[in-house]
Amino acid sequence: MTEPAQKKLFIKTWGCQMNVYDSNRMADVLAPLGYKAVDTPEGADMVILNTCHIREKATDKVFSELGRLREHQEKKKEDGGRMIMAVAGCVAQAEGAFIAERAPYVDMVFGPQTYHELPEMVAKATGAYGKNRIINTDFPAESKFDYLPEEHQSTGPSAFLSIQEGCDKFCTFCVVPYTRGSEYSRDVSKILSEAKRLVEGGSKEITLLGQNVNAFHGEGPDGKVWGLGRLIKTMAEMDGLERIRYTTSHPRDMDDELIETHGSVDKLMPFLHLPVQSGSDKILEAMNRKHTSDDYRRIIDCLRAARPDIAFSSDFIIGFPGETEEDHEATMQLVRDVGFASCYSFTYSARPGTPAANMKNLVHSKIANERLQKLQALILEQQIAYNKKCVGLTLPVLLDRKGKRVGQIQGRSPYNQSVFVTANERLMGQIVEVHIQEGFDQSLTGSIKQHETVLRA
Ligand code: SAH
Ligand code: SF4
Ligand code: F3S
Repeated sequence: MTEPAQKKLFIKTWGCQMNVYDSNRMADVLAPLGYKAVDTPEGADMVILNTCHIREKATDKVFSELGRLREHQEKKKEDGGRMIMAVAGCVAQAEGAFIAERAPYVDMVFGPQTYHELPEMVAKATGAYGKNRIINTDFPAESKFDYLPEEHQSTGPSAFLSIQEGCDKFCTFCVVPYTRGSEYSRDVSKILSEAKRLVEGGSKEITLLGQNVNAFHGEGPDGKVWGLGRLIKTMAEMDGLERIRYTTSHPRDMDDELIETHGSVDKLMPFLHLPVQSGSDKILEAMNRKHTSDDYRRIIDCLRAARPDIAFSSDFIIGFPGETEEDHEATMQLVRDVGFASCYSFTYSARPGTPAANMKNLVHSKIANERLQKLQALILEQQIAYNKKCVGLTLPVLLDRKGKRVGQIQGRSPYNQSVFVTANERLMGQIVEVHIQEGFDQSLTGSIKQHETVLRA
């Protein structure tokens, strides 16, 4: 059999880590068709925009990017070639028909649950059965995970592994239940074999992904339903796998076994991203979060009791409809009480089709922005304090990428901080002991301890 001609595939990814994982998996599906991932759209045979619908701004970016890419598509045509233009991800799912109408030069629009159908979609779009435009926003009965190829084209020192997808929680502001569909957990045996392949490919750290990853309830090899705690304990037995993380979690699904796992499993890193959104019980109720701010404080206390050095990050939405000064102060107080290592915060963005989009008591954008700035100033203060506290410590750092400067390598501390060191590139992919010298708002710097010994190893 002759090898298919090599074709260039450019994928641009926005949004959450699951989109990053999905982009890699799309590249895996397309590899047997001769597509090889490249870093720029110039001259590409196929461009896929893997999009995010979570806030209005995220969605707007898709259309401006499409406009820019159109020039590359025209150029390719002038040169006698063809650039297939595709929109995937959550905007494709939510606004498939609209994209197709507004951007007639887009050849394929397909949602997150259809990626395993890519070979067929590409065959149709490229004319093997007559040229067709593809609009595929189905939620197929079969799970894409059962059809995606086993092999990963690229695995780094730190890898993502999706174990759960979709969401049944329907927070009133959120598009995810509509763009990703209902909650689905993969079978434990499938997850373990994918983890094994990642480790064999050189990954030392695996981050388990899900829109509600701690709601994981996959079928175990014993036929029983396993929770995330049990899965992590089993994965921790895998030789060569040194670090386990998981994201994103919902406070309501922090069960006792998972909390206990933070205390008993060393390979589970002492860092947890646990979005709370607001510190006001009234707003939490309007958001349909189904927990109070004290519930959140209690969960944090239990996790700290299980693993005293655990660090936390969170997400906040500021200016949700009905939010008063008092509600905002409750959010500020929650942040003061918990003390975060880092946080993401955004002003509320009304999303079409969500219940909150119909709420009337809107907060003026000027007020929302002022509150956001107040919150971000507090978070920044905590972030800097947390990073400065690490100065003088020696932390194990997984070196996983090149740094900004020549000769610099970047890695992650157990607490998910970015750490910059000057080091030989041969150390890439290793976990090294780093003496922390400086702490900034977003990162640490340090020097590798016993440099000589490590280099010889
Ligand atoms: N499953 C996670 C969050 C997924 S969305 C959870 O339950 O918390 C990622 C983050 O985007 C959310 O935590 C929220 O802070 C933010 N977000 C979601 N919808 C938003 C909206 N309509 N406006 C502003 N921020 C939003
Ligand atoms: Fe969105 Fe809420 Fe589901 Fe998180 S739990 S994905 S915020 S609906
Ligand atoms: Fe965005 Fe979809 Fe992830 S909306 S945050 S890419 S699930």
